[in-house]
Amino acid sequence: MSFVLMGYESLDSTNDEARRRAEAGAEAGTVVWARRQDAGRGRRGRRWVSEDGNVYCSVLLRPACRPAIGAQLSLVAAVAVADAVTGGLPPAREVRLKWPNDVLVDGRKVAGILLESGADADGRVPWLVVGVGINVLHCPEGTDFPTTSLVAEGLRGEGEGVVKGVLNGFLEQFGRWHRIWRDGGLEPVRTAWLERAAGLGEAISVRLQGETVSGRFGGLDGDGTLLLLPVEGEDVRRIAAGDVFFPGMVDASAAVPSRHP
Ligand code: BTN
Repeated sequence: MSFVLMGYESLDSTNDEARRRAEAGAEAGTVVWARRQDAGRGRRGRRWVSEDGNVYCSVLLRPACRPAIGAQLSLVAAVAVADAVTGGLPPAREVRLKWPNDVLVDGRKVAGILLESGADADGRVPWLVVGVGINVLHCPEGTDFPTTSLVAEGLRGEGEGVVKGVLNGFLEQFGRWHRIWRDGGLEPVRTAWLERAAGLGEAISVRLQGETVSGRFGGLDGDGTLLLLPVEGEDVRRIAAGDVFFPGMVDASAAVPSRHP
């Protein structure tokens, strides 16, 4: 896939602009990038603080597949972001993935991914937008999850060059992992995701709509759903959507959702 980059000083949300372009007929590979967003969105309706100095971009795809297959692109993007940021950090830094697609550096969230898609009358996905936010120069405070930025973790560089470098690195890796997924299906991506996973086999809790469940992180099923191993006795639970917390992280779900997760 080749990319066509559409750059903006400011947008409501790069995902919204990518959707508008998709509905107007833009081609797969269109990338909407903005220096800042006024209405950046995170998963589950949360706000994504989007000041100058971080990466905010959305890649338009036209997979024409069933929604469950399209959702796999969230793991594709997560592996791509992890590989893109690893290259620029000191080797001692540990880049890991937290299901489904948060990218952590030494346990702190540095990037998030938001997939949004349209639906055809025949149940196929006519367009899908992969929205990626990467904390390059700064990160929000007071969030559900601890956060960090690439520069705080040792990425070298200054000003706009460093942001563009991270954006280009992501697009290169996304192109590579998208090809692997397109040609080989989810399995190689699932394997790569698990190699980069945080907390495999360890205690986690998962915040679902209306309840929080606990167990051990048993990896991913063949379709990318999370496997929650029971604490005692119960069946393995397959989870399609939720927020994962590791021990010691504060689940601030009772608070008003307002900032980055
Ligand atoms: C998350 O909750 O972790 C996902 C955050 C996704 C943020 C990115 S920034 C670019 C794109 N535009 C948005 O409004 N959201 C995504």
